[in-house]
Amino acid sequence: MAVIAELIQASKEYQTGDQTIVALQPTSLQLNEGELLLIIGPSGSGKTTLLSLIGCVIYPSKGELYVDGQHVNKMKPNELAKLRLDTIGFVFQQFNLLAPLTAEENVAIPLKLQGISGSEIKSRVAKAIETVGMTERKKNLPKQLSGGQQQRIAIARALVTNPKIILCDEPTASLDKNSFEVVMQELKALARQGKSVAVVTHDPRLQKYADRAVEVKNGFVYPLELKDVSFD
Ligand SMILES: Nc1ncnc2c1ncn2[C@@H]1O[C@H](COP(=O)(O)OP(=O)(O)O)[C@@H](O)[C@H]1O
Ligand SMILES: [Mg+2]
Repeated sequence: MAVIAELIQASKEYQTGDQTIVALQPTSLQLNEGELLLIIGPSGSGKTTLLSLIGCVIYPSKGELYVDGQHVNKMKPNELAKLRLDTIGFVFQQFNLLAPLTAEENVAIPLKLQGISGSEIKSRVAKAIETVGMTERKKNLPKQLSGGQQQRIAIARALVTNPKIILCDEPTASLDKNSFEVVMQELKALARQGKSVAVVTHDPRLQKYADRAVEVKNGFVYPLELKDVSFD
């Protein structure tokens, strides 16, 4: 399996007044293509910080970070923004869909940011929405969709740029059991297609969808043995 992102003793500290908060202790971790990695841990442990590093949203305070072969430490903010747009797809707990836009308009946003032409946007949006099984609802506004359906549109928006990495921060936290399973199956299918998918959760039930898991506690990252691995 090819490594797509790598932290080498990478840490993140925040300075608030005269206090230093270590959000993430020095961490060495690899993300591989074709793998769903689960990042488990209690609230405040550093999960979002870890995801934000991999997602090129923040720089490490110490240590090294490589994403898609590029040395993040050495990149300027505008270079990092481009790497993020081209390489990373994000899925959040609250979906973050824009309310006045239809499902398909929401999915088109990252392609517009990339400056892609209208006709290509149209076909790629249609394909991404089809991948998540939402073609019949593409003209709907977010408020006309259930939580699970909104999350599937958010996944379509994350994958429409064909990113190598998909990062999900508590993607099932606002979902009922049925939607939760549909969403996790979607994410697992994307990993099977070769993407590197990382899912942050505090829900141990998600272990059955994972290929690998780590646990974050007080800013430290530990490998975790999966209790219930399914191979289907
Ligand atoms: N921008 C920030 N400034 C100061 N402290 C932060 C910031 N972001 C996160 N932290 C702190 O870092 C720790 C880890 O936060 P976070 O990564 O959001 O945890 P989790 O996602 O596991 O709930 C927490 O103590 C949090 O308060
Ligand atoms: Mg968090």
